[in-house]
Amino acid sequence: MSNDSASLNLAGKDVPLPVMSGTVGPDVVDIRKLYGQTGAFTYDPGFTSTASCQSAITYIDGEQGILLHRGYPIDQLAENSTFMEVAYLLLHGELPNKDELDKFVYTISRHTMVHEQLATFFRGFRRDAHPMAVLVGVVGALSSFYHDSTDITDPQQRLIASHRLIAKMPTLVAMAYKYSIGQPFLYPDNSLGYTANFLRMTFGVPAEHYEVNPVIERAMRRIFILHADHEQNASTSTVRLAGSSGANPFACIAAGIACLWGPAHGGANEAALNMLREIGDVKRIPEYIARAKDKDDPFRLMGFGHRVYKNFDPRAKVMKATADEVLKELNISDPVLDVAKELEHIALSDSYFIDKKLYPNVDFYSGVILNAIGFPTEMFTALFALARTVGWVAQWNEMIADPEQKIGRPRQLYTGSAQRDYVQVGDRK
Ligand code: SDX
Repeated sequence: MSNDSASLNLAGKDVPLPVMSGTVGPDVVDIRKLYGQTGAFTYDPGFTSTASCQSAITYIDGEQGILLHRGYPIDQLAENSTFMEVAYLLLHGELPNKDELDKFVYTISRHTMVHEQLATFFRGFRRDAHPMAVLVGVVGALSSFYHDSTDITDPQQRLIASHRLIAKMPTLVAMAYKYSIGQPFLYPDNSLGYTANFLRMTFGVPAEHYEVNPVIERAMRRIFILHADHEQNASTSTVRLAGSSGANPFACIAAGIACLWGPAHGGANEAALNMLREIGDVKRIPEYIARAKDKDDPFRLMGFGHRVYKNFDPRAKVMKATADEVLKELNISDPVLDVAKELEHIALSDSYFIDKKLYPNVDFYSGVILNAIGFPTEMFTALFALARTVGWVAQWNEMIADPEQKIGRPRQLYTGSAQRDYVQVGDRK
């Protein structure tokens, strides 16, 4: 709690409001008693100034372009850590020692298989179904397999559900890709690490040994780390809201996947690469910059702007460096990367973007790397969902364990009709 307090004067009455301070970052004004004291709500569509919870998992400083996971800067984790180590850190709050990490990796690897019945769920989809539509369906279906082992009041059962979700997402995402191209599913090979196992299930075929390319494995691991968690973004808030009713954890994650799919959120990585391909040539960039600035044109620069970052998204910096590294090491020259760099350069020298503090976000460069690795554009957001599952389950656990947590139930400013009496159809005009 802070020593400060706030006071609101409403209808001539002064209402004292406690102020709470976190470890770092903005204080919050505690308005939990406001309605009881004043009969008024606050109004904040899109939650631009609203803290929905207390959390110790991720901290973002949008002005400084800082992203910390349990206090560790994202660039240090991307450089030094593994995705399993980051998953442990997000779930448990501390970097694991060697025994803890080995045990965690072993536990996750023993949950990578999915029930054989689940494979039949894929058969119901068209082969050209969007992978996110498939994932919403099959992850939601997991709740029909584990409805009897999810007493969410039991921390141990919450942990098992979390391990299952982290372990099975790579298998399900790889199955969604295989199904879309008509190739057979590959079972997990638990002699491989998490990222290598995913790459093999995705790009391997039954008849051949799949050699994991270390450059691709390192890039994929870094991409997973960069997407692992991001405070109370739209999809994480969706998981928390669904979880606040006590819903099945697998259904909660399916809700998060549905929210992430939107082009304003996780769907931006797919939209950004499609946009860069549509621009196609640096000579056409001014045309698209003009469209992005035109109030009457719904077009936006996909992969640009962020609700929180009003400086560089630190993940975009790492992603840009990784794009250069991967294309060079794979000896690929992709004109789309040149378009992306020139677009960033032009946009960041344009007063519209400078004044509105619009910088490249995590989605601007990721598509260039994923395309170089061999993923079709439609798979990009599914890869985001795979990585973000770690953050979603960490945030879901934190929410369930929070004694102050209640079911989420926002109010509204009502602008509809005042009460009126029913009129029989024969008496209406
Ligand atoms: C992710 O929240 C998270 O943490 C999300 C995420 C995560 O890890 O979970 O970081 C992942 O979702 C990244 C964002 C991916 N989305 C995109 O790249 C889509 C393009 N960006 C925008 O749609 C937009 O920037 C948002 C949705 C990301 C943020 O929107 P806000 O905060 O609601 O801001 P806004 O829409 O009110 O825009 C402010 C102004 C507006 O102009 P005015 O009405 O004030 O005149 O900036 C303009 C917007 O028109 N603007 C853009 C723009 N983004 C904002 N103009 C052109 N191109 C853009 N990309």
